[in-house]
Formats: sequence, C-alpha cells, structure tokens
Amino acid sequence: MLLQIPAVLKKEEIETVLHELSQGAYEDGRVSAGLLARDIKNNLQIKRDAAAAQKCAPLLLEALRRNGTFYSVALPHRVRGPIFNRYDVGMTYGLHVDNAIMGEGTANAVLGVGNSVRTDVSATLFLSAPDQYDGGELVLQENHGDKRIKLPAGSMVVYSSTSAHRVEPVTRGSRLAAIFWIQSMVRDEPKREILFDLSQILDSVRSKLDSNEQMALTSVYHNLLRVWAET
Ligand code: NI
Repeated sequence: MLLQIPAVLKKEEIETVLHELSQGAYEDGRVSAGLLARDIKNNLQIKRDAAAAQKCAPLLLEALRRNGTFYSVALPHRVRGPIFNRYDVGMTYGLHVDNAIMGEGTANAVLGVGNSVRTDVSATLFLSAPDQYDGGELVLQENHGDKRIKLPAGSMVVYSSTSAHRVEPVTRGSRLAAIFWIQSMVRDEPKREILFDLSQILDSVRSKLDSNEQMALTSVYHNLLRVWAET
C-alpha cells in the first residue's frame, strides 16, 4: 500500500506550522529511535512537550480528521503523533522498518496498559516546499523496486508500516516533516485495500446510480467493514 494524498494542509496552515516550527526547540531524533535504529537515525525532532509541538499537533490532527481519503485508506482507530522532524545538511535516516508498537514502550504494550499504538499504517506529511532543500527523498522499498517520494508542502504519503524505508541525506537546505503512526480498525492490509478500492469505486459511480443502487453498494461496504473492523 502506498498512497499520496495532496493538499492535506491548507496554505495558511502550512505557513502557521512552518512559523511555529522555526521557533521550536529541537533535540536529537535518536531519543525516539528503537535500539536497532539508533545507529542509522541522524535527524532532529521537536520535543513533544515544546510549545510549537503543542500548538501544531491539534491543527495537523484536525487536518487528518477532515480528510476523507486518509480515513478511507487508513481506517484509523488510534493515531500516534505527529512527531515533527527536521533534516539539515548531512542528516539522513538509513533503511529501517518502523517499530511495531509506538507509545509508552513495548513492555507496557505487552501488559496492555498505557496508550501504545500498534503501527499498521505510517504517514509522512511534507512541510518544507521541495525547492527549499535537495536530497531528503523518502525512499520506500516496494516489491517492484524503490519508490522515491518528495511531495509539495502540505501533501502526505501513507504507506504500510511493514515497508522498509529510508530518508536520503539532505545536501542543501532543511527538510521539515511530520510523521504519524496509525493503528487501523482493519489490521490486515489486503482487507484494508479491498475496502479502500470499494470506497473509491463507490465515490466514482455514486452520481450515476439511483438511490436503491447507492444504498445497496454502500451497504456492502459497511457490512464488510463491520465484519473486519476491530475497535
Ligand atoms: Ni520510519
């Protein structure tokens, strides 16, 4: 699964977020890296409790909430993030797979306490305009070869958390992005993809169907979701 969603943020929201992030206090990104990632992760991120993060996070989560395409592709149950990260010249994140459990630590997740999230879907929301930096592509290892992704500010890529990926070294400027991890209501990726395909078909043919046909097709979608969803 790999989907680009354009214009998740409005122009004024991008400006607000970039302004806030320019004033935020950054720390070494290794603080949130798993044991294996620590050696290959070289970036900066805003402290979760920093004022900039506190101000921007609700704005971004609201943008996700209003985005129907994000809902359809991720079927979010719980969202972890955003984490705001920054790659300056020379910074990079080597090939890795995101941790299966994010949040209060794996130990707590095993005990069933805390606010941990199982990562089914990962999302990167690009915040810097692509002409503000060189390098910094998100590279996803897919079955049919690498996909190199660099999107306009405010656009997002959503991909399976099982995908190995890396961030190319930045060679000019600074790359700001926000990262989310989503525990989906539908854990199995093939099932999620069927539901997404069906929702897209429904959207494209809805205006050509009479009300009975619309109702019938919508029912199929919801009944499938009812069978597969866990909340
Ligand atoms: Ni990652």
